[in-house]
Amino acid sequence: MPARNRDGHRKRSLAVFPGSFDPITNGHLDIIGRGLSVFDQVTIAILVNPEKHPLFTVEERVDLIREAFRGEDRVQVDTFSGLLVDYAERVGASVIVRGLRAISDFEYEFQMGLMNRRLNPRIETVFMMPAESYSYLSSRLVKEVFQLGGPVRDLVPAAVERRLREKYGTSAPQPVARRRARTRRA
Ligand code: PNS
Repeated sequence: MPARNRDGHRKRSLAVFPGSFDPITNGHLDIIGRGLSVFDQVTIAILVNPEKHPLFTVEERVDLIREAFRGEDRVQVDTFSGLLVDYAERVGASVIVRGLRAISDFEYEFQMGLMNRRLNPRIETVFMMPAESYSYLSSRLVKEVFQLGGPVRDLVPAAVERRLREKYGTSAPQPVARRRARTRRA
């Protein structure tokens, strides 16, 4: 039976989708879309970790995600530090959503899911699979490919590609086929 508020209305279900999002990719967007088909609201929670050295500052990551979800009032963007389960409880979420791309993700995700459950059994972890076309996609690979001049257009939201260009001070990478043709002619 669905949880109800004191006035008898069904409680809106809230899921937290946590991560580093450095930067957000189309794979993340895919999982968030799937989250929205199951939960009323999804809060994207960016971990603030002073020990990590991200490419994008927390503020930049918040902005980029807000831009990707402009007009979608069922998605919120927030930051957190400390334990994820404490954050989830604080904002009233009973579910943590994580994406599972491949078997290689499984061990880490399983450990994390079980530890979170031990820390707070009221919070359930739900794993979702992205479209197969995103099963190899990660923020780390996007940064590497872009830095080496490869195209990332179909892998990240337009605003992310724009910010990558600003960060690295480069123009948009050309499609590989066109670059090869030009090299042959030269
Ligand atoms: O995008 P990422 O880097 O895979 O996200 C990892 C994240 C942020 C979900 C994880 O590092 C996390 O939840 N950190 C918060 C600290 C915490 O709760 N640790 C105990 C969980 S096992």
